[in-house]
Amino acid sequence: MTRATWRTRLGFVLAAVGSAVGLGNIWRFPWLTATNGGAAFLLLYLLVIVLVGVPGLVGEMVIGRRSRRNPVGAFAELGGPRWRVLGGVALVASVVVLSFYSVVGGWILRYTLASATGAYFAAPEQYFAAIDYGVGAAGFHALFLLATVAVVYAGVDRGIELATTVMVPGIVLLFGGLAVWVATLPGSGGGYEFFLSLDVAYLRDNFFSVLVAAAGQALFTLSVGAGAMLTYASYLGEDRSLAADGTIIAALNTGIGVLAGLVIFPLLFSLGVSPGEGGPGALFVGLAGAFGTLPYSRVVGVVFFGVVLLAALSSAISIMEVLVAYLVDEHALSRPRATAGVGGLFLVTGTAAALSPSLFGLLADTLANLVLTAGLLGFLLFDGWVLRRAALDEYETGAGRLARLTGRPWYYAVAVVIPLFLAFTFLTGLGAVAGVPVSAPAALALAVVGVGGAIVLLRSDTDSTA
Ligand code: PHE
Repeated sequence: MTRATWRTRLGFVLAAVGSAVGLGNIWRFPWLTATNGGAAFLLLYLLVIVLVGVPGLVGEMVIGRRSRRNPVGAFAELGGPRWRVLGGVALVASVVVLSFYSVVGGWILRYTLASATGAYFAAPEQYFAAIDYGVGAAGFHALFLLATVAVVYAGVDRGIELATTVMVPGIVLLFGGLAVWVATLPGSGGGYEFFLSLDVAYLRDNFFSVLVAAAGQALFTLSVGAGAMLTYASYLGEDRSLAADGTIIAALNTGIGVLAGLVIFPLLFSLGVSPGEGGPGALFVGLAGAFGTLPYSRVVGVVFFGVVLLAALSSAISIMEVLVAYLVDEHALSRPRATAGVGGLFLVTGTAAALSPSLFGLLADTLANLVLTAGLLGFLLFDGWVLRRAALDEYETGAGRLARLTGRPWYYAVAVVIPLFLAFTFLTGLGAVAGVPVSAPAALALAVVGVGGAIVLLRSDTDSTA
């Protein structure tokens, strides 16, 4: 059986943008921005996207296109059987992310429907508290999952590519329209100020905690570390520049993220809601509650949550595809069977997260950041010290002049600098979870020892087998 491929380059780019743009941009980003000092967070986040996110994304795609396999098969093919474990990390990361993601997807679906009837307008806080976890939440999660299964079931080109080619432009148009409309509301000015003006003192006093939060969010929003972009790149038929594609994908994702911020913050300010309120529920309580006071409140609610639903769905399918590709490639299952099996798995794990707020919090808050960081760290060390020259060749394939010039700097970034950074944020994050705060110098020292040790081992290993 020949392996599926994207029909067009645009189709691939839109599918990847669909993966990147999602709840990360709309639900997680405003919430983190609000609790990390507004523009201070935005600034570090943009820096991390450019310096870590884009080269990391390309590093992940290099492995997919070179091997044309799912993550587990890719590492086995390129590095030998014992590297399958790195693919296993990607599978685990995918399970962690989609298990809570589809619960939030269920909330969004419910709010889209509830907007039409205005069900949450009168008492937003009570409404959210009544539906966030429990049997109802599990039910809506299952519906969201079913929609995800339907697209993945239909295949790479006829399902994913077709769906995202319609969804992504739709997201841009609808958000663009909302942003313009929001600007006309009285009192929205404070939102732009909060979002776009920098508080230098805040940044100075909280530099490391803001940096760690920004780094986790940058990986999450670009969908790197879980093998989703690796898998999508494995369906590339023609060889065009991955560096160019990666840059376009990250630029569009960031643009749409900022656009979402330009809708959400001015709206919150115009309605007199403080953006930090309510943590993960902020979108559903602060923002949704405020919809009730607007003209055309039901239309606004349906349009807003409808766009978010599209964005969430186009991300969820990319995560599910990781596991489906694995079962199809490695266990010779048919796509329908693989999709059904994976859907069944998430029915169980997602239901557990929908019933247990503490499990949900663990997955969404801490584990997701940690597994994505660990995954990307492994991928990049693999590029740098197992693939080596082949990684650079893959980077340069189809590349124009500019991408050729950036090849070497990219290689050293991916082989040494970014792994150090990822190990640093991983250790800091792990310390925070374990309740043993690791100071910045200690985390840096540990990162240098860990990454340095790994590089020494990998070098002697490949030297002796080469
Ligand atoms: N990037 C997606 C979002 O922002 C989430 C995601 C993470 C998707 C990891 C795939 C892999 O919503």
